[in-house]
Amino acid sequence: MAPPAPATRPASRAPLRVALLGVGTVGRAVAEALLADTDRLTARAGRPLKLVAMAARSRRRLDGLGLPPDVVLTDDPTAAATVGGVDVVVEVLGGLEPAGSVVLDGIRAGRAVVTANKHLLAARGSEIEAAALASGTPVRFEAAVGGGTPVLRLLAADLVGMHVERIRGVVNGTTNWILDRMELDGLDGAAALAAAQAAGYAEADPSLDLDGVDAADKLVILSRLAFGVWLRPEEVQRVAPDGPGAGGPGISAVSRADIEAAARRGRRVRLVAEAGRSTDRDRSERGGEAGVEASVLAREVDRDDPLASASGVGNVIVIEGAPHGVVTVSGPGAGGPATAAAVIADLVAIAHGEGSTWDASPLTHRAAEAAPVGAAG
Ligand SMILES: NC(=O)c1ccc[n+]([C@@H]2O[C@H](COP(=O)([O-])OP(=O)(O)OC[C@H]3O[C@@H](n4cnc5c(N)ncnc54)[C@H](OP(=O)(O)O)[C@@H]3O)[C@@H](O)[C@H]2O)c1
Repeated sequence: MAPPAPATRPASRAPLRVALLGVGTVGRAVAEALLADTDRLTARAGRPLKLVAMAARSRRRLDGLGLPPDVVLTDDPTAAATVGGVDVVVEVLGGLEPAGSVVLDGIRAGRAVVTANKHLLAARGSEIEAAALASGTPVRFEAAVGGGTPVLRLLAADLVGMHVERIRGVVNGTTNWILDRMELDGLDGAAALAAAQAAGYAEADPSLDLDGVDAADKLVILSRLAFGVWLRPEEVQRVAPDGPGAGGPGISAVSRADIEAAARRGRRVRLVAEAGRSTDRDRSERGGEAGVEASVLAREVDRDDPLASASGVGNVIVIEGAPHGVVTVSGPGAGGPATAAAVIADLVAIAHGEGSTWDASPLTHRAAEAAPVGAAG
């Protein structure tokens, strides 16, 4: 008698054909992983992961990759995504456009999508989810939160038996690195930012990190998987009325004095992204509607709080709920190879016939109402 088939056996052993859009920090590392590790990846995926098309705005980005001659090269993401026979579109361009169009067009054409783009998901997640539901194609985005730290699948699938009450995390490496320099090296905010820029940890325009916008985008995605709701990014509170850096968004107004005052109390200042189910009082103020309260604020945390242990650009995410109590995950929040590893994990999942990252975490009523009409069209 034949042995039973393994549960994860892929539907097909034909190559999974990948179009890679964007060859920057993450995209180049994805290409390197796909080209370097073929035997191991084929064994893990049950079929070859084959790079068939790439979109790079500058051909210099491709130097030294040693691409096979049959890979279609273009500077146009749409052209790469629509090459005949592509099974999966990997979007690592960043930004809202053309990323949004290629993701939605790919979904509507029945192609699977893997994206690392938290800004796009936070802005248009409910529309992307509705389109994916209508076309029955998987959308996966493990790299969008935590970089190389596997938190989204953990939250949506592995913790399906947990009734999540609250998530707290240090999810922005740039601000955490800056707070470390202020506390450990005695730098003021401007000097710490300059050091972060010199070390390649902060953009020329650092406001998306400093003001908590990037962390709020990630919290929108975490909240979707924990609570079944697509929050609007502007629903995430980013300005604290009191505490460190009060009055300014994110860590923009945190001073050395705030950090020293926290240290005198045996505490550290971290940029804490936090979302939880609303309390009974919140609900009654809203006329009974259940909801999610979300904020990204500089906060003092006790030294034995797991968030206090977030070091440099590392991320720490604490998930609280019954029956587990507390589950904590930590790891590299960014970086090309680590983030690319999350993209590769999503490609392997798709090769095995798995669905979207949100599949085991259905939308709630409120989020379904919020999905734009005609999004699947
Ligand atoms: N870096 C990380 O550690 C990390 C971690 C987690 C998630 N992410 C997310 O991953 C995505 C990519 O990030 P990244 O750090 O790799 O950014 P990046 O280094 O700026 O790379 C983006 C690449 O896409 C290219 N590109 C942008 N628009 C294009 C267009 N219209 N046509 C062709 N090419 C285009 C850029 O070309 P040019 O070189 O010509 O500008 C660049 O090479 C973002 O959504 C980011 O939020 C990044």
